[in-house]
Amino acid sequence: MIDIAAIRREFPILSRKVNGKPLIYFDNGATTQKPQKVIDAIVKYYAEENANIHRGVHTLSREATILFEQARKTVAGFIGAAEQEIIFTAGTTDAINLVAGGLSLPEGGEIIVTEMEHHSNILPWQLWCEHHHGTLRVIPVKADGTLDLDVLETLVNPKTALLAITHVSNTLGTINPVKEIIARVRKARGGHIPVLVDGAQSAPHLQVHVHDMDADFFVFSAHKVYGPTGVGVLWARNPDSLILSRAGGGTIKTVTFAKTEYVEGPSRLEPGTPHIEGVIAFAEAIRYVNSIGIRAIADYEHHLLMHATRRLNEIPEVEIYANHLHKAAVISFNVKGAHPFDVGTLLDKYGIAVRTGHHCTQPLMQHYGIPGTVRASFALYNTIEEIDLFIEALQKSIRMLL
Ligand SMILES: Cc1ncc(COP(=O)(O)O)c(C=O)c1O
Repeated sequence: MIDIAAIRREFPILSRKVNGKPLIYFDNGATTQKPQKVIDAIVKYYAEENANIHRGVHTLSREATILFEQARKTVAGFIGAAEQEIIFTAGTTDAINLVAGGLSLPEGGEIIVTEMEHHSNILPWQLWCEHHHGTLRVIPVKADGTLDLDVLETLVNPKTALLAITHVSNTLGTINPVKEIIARVRKARGGHIPVLVDGAQSAPHLQVHVHDMDADFFVFSAHKVYGPTGVGVLWARNPDSLILSRAGGGTIKTVTFAKTEYVEGPSRLEPGTPHIEGVIAFAEAIRYVNSIGIRAIADYEHHLLMHATRRLNEIPEVEIYANHLHKAAVISFNVKGAHPFDVGTLLDKYGIAVRTGHHCTQPLMQHYGIPGTVRASFALYNTIEEIDLFIEALQKSIRMLL
């Protein structure tokens, strides 16, 4: 059991008011709030530890380097990886772009994605296709918001060069059976092809073991796991397999105008001064999550999902997409006859933050033939009482709108 009241006290923003009402923050899929420990880690870094890393012999630089490299170990442990497999990036989007720019895939290759991908896991591959005469192949979504895996093998052919798939849908909460999909695609292809798993929405909610999943790349963002913005992770089974698409200070052994020799390992892919305090605070966020336990968090969030789904299903005007419980704690819905923006704007008047719009998944919206949805996504500090207040506010909003 987790002590929610104690947890809530650790998140200072949860005590603020919005439009005169206590904040109810249900936009965790976009970004989570930060516990005091994470905020303190950033302040402490600038107050006591600030120096550039990897290049100084002085005490501050050595201390900052140690903190930065310890963070790599902490992040690695969180997803069952080794520290030399962790590359720090600016976020999920940046990590996917790093892979798309660094993989040497065959010209004219085909890339398999799904219809529920976030734009960040479509556009870098679309760009790759534009530059290399490639083609995107798309695993369709069924009416229940799961992938139509009956057609999976029909999408694979000798040109299949890569599978890029989300672990959990940010819009629907659907948890994809990535291990099974990876095995089936490789079997149909008759050999190894690289696989990237977008873990932006799974790392905050599920126990992830990257080696068990059997992907080659797994990416996620710190800010969705109670950490700071501007930091993310690229886990690569073999970081040296990526060609350098960007280069600079901190990545080299020797430089001459004739030739440069690069270091091996993750630093090769981290040119320039990184987001040092962000990485250090990210490790603090992971320690925070570990202190509660990701399984305990997932169980509690599922309890919230069950309650919110039941209450929303009692409202006749509400239509939920992926209306089932085998998913992460994300509910996308619409009020029949009302625009999602209007619903979101009225909920804001009650201090309730939900996401409205296409959630950077326009192809998925096209699949459902809708402009957008209202999305409530939960985190470990949300409560049943907040859900009941949200339902009450939603019912009032519906009466105003219809
Ligand atoms: C599934 C998924 N992929 C990628 C991203 C992009 O993450 P970031 O904006 O942190 O790079 C998000 C963010 O919402 C997401 O939910």
